[in-house]
Amino acid sequence: MELGTTFTQFLIEQQRKYPAATGDFTSLLSEIATAAKILSREVNKAGLIDLFGYNGKQNVHGEQVQKLDQFANDTFIKALCHTGHLIGIASEEMEEPYQIPDSCPKGKYVFMMDPLDGSSNIDVNISIGSIFSIYRRKGDSENATMDDFLQKGRDQICAGYIIYGSSTMMVYTTGVGVHGFTLDPGIGEFLLSHENIQIPSRGTYYSINEGNALNWEKGVSCYVEQAKQKGKSARYVGSLVADFHRNLLKGGVFLYPSDRKNKNGKLRLLYEASPLAFIVEQAQGKATDGTENILDKIPEKLHQRIPLIIGSPEDVDEVVACLSS
Ligand code: AHG
Ligand code: MN
Ligand code: MN
Repeated sequence: MELGTTFTQFLIEQQRKYPAATGDFTSLLSEIATAAKILSREVNKAGLIDLFGYNGKQNVHGEQVQKLDQFANDTFIKALCHTGHLIGIASEEMEEPYQIPDSCPKGKYVFMMDPLDGSSNIDVNISIGSIFSIYRRKGDSENATMDDFLQKGRDQICAGYIIYGSSTMMVYTTGVGVHGFTLDPGIGEFLLSHENIQIPSRGTYYSINEGNALNWEKGVSCYVEQAKQKGKSARYVGSLVADFHRNLLKGGVFLYPSDRKNKNGKLRLLYEASPLAFIVEQAQGKATDGTENILDKIPEKLHQRIPLIIGSPEDVDEVVACLSS
């Protein structure tokens, strides 16, 4: 049987074709893939660990399940800090950025991540993910500074996510299309399965936490009502990566808007909204906070939250029309 194109082979070909866009960080991306494989293995065991917990070993195993966010964070850091490409790493799980130690070679990029997205779904066997974003650093000081991290989404040089679902997939862009790879567990390689993903211009799904409806602003209620009138189906996993991935492939819109309780929504600009916005634009979709393109937002804080409306371009336009009417 013929072996498909591996992630590494694809990266090398891309680098040859688009040297300016792909940059010189192929080995960094390969290490991200390695971290993803380790996490995929652990995530697959999480259900098993929970089962053991039910049998009276809840302390140790319960802790391990809860600690999957921390494990994911540490796995990425361990895999990436030696590559020589990075100067710093920021993460949802760390208040302050991690500085590449002097014992490791330092590089010109910063890496930002949501190491484990959809944590509430870990121990109930529902898809979860990891999201990442890479920028060229701004300064040249000994350590990464806040300016290196607080860059607008449009300046990303790479963004991607991994979904640990019915299969494990990695989807990424360096600004020349969006490509998806499925992990073949038999050989432990990501193989090209979705080349040049394009989001449908309109979808049949809308994804929003309807439990927040009492706090919605009028425009959001208006859109959801309109979606129902049009016969659209609701789909909401509660893992951003999973909801986004479905809408990217099938078409649809995901909303986590501002509401009366959460003025800035819930999701984080730098390692949730921005990377997915870069991916969706490369796939011909759109991402906005309701008034401005997510990729044009200038971040003020590392862990800043932002309202997010993302998905098929015509659906996003309809949401924005409702919000501004
Ligand atoms: P995380 O697990 O990284 O904290 O992210 C959770 C996020 C996101 O994955 C999802 O879309 C959203 O929280 C769900 O929030 P609600 O439960 O409020 O709907
Ligand atoms: Mn998240
Ligand atoms: Mn997370």
